[in-house]
Amino acid sequence: EARFDFVVVANRLPVDRYTTAEGEPGWRTSPGGLVTALTPVMERLGGAWVGWAGADTEGISPFTHNGTRIVPVPLSAEEVESYYEGFSNDTLWPLYHDVIAPPTYHREWWDSYVKVNRRFAEAAAETANERATVWVHDYQLQLVPGMLRELRPDLTIGFFNHIPFPAYGLFSQLPWRTQIIEGLLGADVIGFQRVADASNFTRAVRRLVGYETKGTSVYVPLESDSAPGQTGGYRRGGPTRHVLAKHFPISIDSASFEALARTPEVQARAAEIRSDLGGSGKILFGVDRLDYTKGIRHRLKAYGELLADGRIDPADVTLIQVASPSRERVETYRQLRDEIELTVGRINGDFGQIGHSAVHYLHHGYPREEMVALYLASDVMLVTALRDGMNLVAKEYVATRFDQDGVLVLSEFAGASDDLTQALLINPHDIEGLKDTIMTAINMPQPERAKRMKSMRKKVRENDVERWSTAFLAELERSAAARLDEA
Ligand code: G6P
Repeated sequence: EARFDFVVVANRLPVDRYTTAEGEPGWRTSPGGLVTALTPVMERLGGAWVGWAGADTEGISPFTHNGTRIVPVPLSAEEVESYYEGFSNDTLWPLYHDVIAPPTYHREWWDSYVKVNRRFAEAAAETANERATVWVHDYQLQLVPGMLRELRPDLTIGFFNHIPFPAYGLFSQLPWRTQIIEGLLGADVIGFQRVADASNFTRAVRRLVGYETKGTSVYVPLESDSAPGQTGGYRRGGPTRHVLAKHFPISIDSASFEALARTPEVQARAAEIRSDLGGSGKILFGVDRLDYTKGIRHRLKAYGELLADGRIDPADVTLIQVASPSRERVETYRQLRDEIELTVGRINGDFGQIGHSAVHYLHHGYPREEMVALYLASDVMLVTALRDGMNLVAKEYVATRFDQDGVLVLSEFAGASDDLTQALLINPHDIEGLKDTIMTAINMPQPERAKRMKSMRKKVRENDVERWSTAFLAELERSAAARLDEA
C-alpha cells in the first residue's frame, strides 16, 4: 500500500456501508457533523482517511473515493458492541455531554477501547509517510495520539475533539481518566470547540498528572521516574515537550450550501414543500440525529404546550421534525425514540386534523439537497441542544438562507452560539422561555429577520471550515518546525 504525507484518522470513514432495499451492499455518506466538516477539507488537501466502514465490513480493502484514499479498519461484531456502542457511546458520549444520560462504566468495554485504539494507531502508522502529519479525531480515539507517538516518533500528530470536554468534577468520574489524558497528550496540538473545553482539559491535566500548564500550553516531561498512570513522579524543571491545547471552532463549507440553495431544483423543491403543507402557514423545522443531547423532547414539550395554551393555531403552524436514526442498538437511544414517538403521537392526536398534522415526524436521513430545500422552506429553525460541541445544523441553516430570511432559535449550550450571537438564544431547560422565544420567532417582522440573518451569514462565511482546518494545521506545522529546531 502507498504511504501518505497527510492522514486523517477518525472512527467513521466518510462513507458508510449499508444494505439497499434490494438487499445489495451500497455506500452512502456517513452520519454526523465530523464527516460534514472533514469531507471538504480532505477533498481539498488529499491524503488518506483511516476509519471504520460501518457494521459487517470486515475484510474490505483500501479504495479511492473522491480523491481520498480510504483505509478501512475492521471491527468485529463484539467490538462494535464493546468499543463503539459501549465505551464510546454509552460511557464517553454521556459523560462528555454533562451526564444528560447516566454513563455506564464497564472494564470489558475499556479493554476493548484500548485494543481498538491500538488497531487504529497501527493502521495510521502503516499509512503515514516519513515525517507525515496525522490528524486524529474525536472521543472514540483518544488513546491513538499516545500510541502513535510511541510507534512513530517522526510524525507530527494533531487531535481534534468534536464534542465538549467536560468539567473536572464530571471527567473525574471516569475510572480510566489518567490514561485518557496521557493518550491525548501524545499529540502536538489538541483542538477543542470552545474556550471552556480547552480549559476543562488543561485543568484535568494539572489535577490528574500534575504537569505544568500555562494558558493554552502544556509542558509534558520527557523523563518520568514513575510508571504510567502514577501522578507526580516526574522531575520538575527537567526537559519537556510542548503541547498546545486550544479552541478551534469547527464549521462547514458555507459556499457549497449557498450554491446548492441557489439551484432551481432545490428552490422548486422548497416551494413544493411549502405548498404540500398548505402554502400559507408558518413552518418550524428541527433536524437532528436522534440523540438525547439534542433536546428534541424539550422542543416537542414547548411546542405541545403552545398548542395546548392556544397560543399557536395548528391550522397556521406546522412543525417538521427530522430525526435521523443513530446508534439504534444502545438502550438510551431506544428509550428516547419511544418517548419522542409517543409525544409526537399525542400532539398529533390532540391537535391534528384530517389532512393536516401538527407535527411531521420523519425518522430518516436525507440527502443534502433535501435538507437545503427544507432549510429554505422553513420560517423558524429550532436548535435546542442540551449540550452540543458545535452543532453544524445551525451553521448550515444560516449558510443556506441567501434570501436573508428565516429565524434561528439556538441553544446557548451549543458551541455555535459563541459565533451566532444574532440568533434568538435560549436555555432549553427553561420551557416557558423557549415557548416565548418560539412566539417571538414566529412573529418577528421581516426587517429584523433580515438584519439578524445578514449578520450571522457574515460570521459563517468568514469562519468557514477551510479557515478552521487552515488554522489548526498551521499550528501543527509550527509545532513540527519547533521540534525540528530542537533536534
Ligand atoms: C457526532 C460525533 C462523530 C460521529 C457522529 C455520528 O458528530 O462527534 O464522531 O461520527 O456524531 O455518530 P456515529 O456514532 O453514527 O458515528
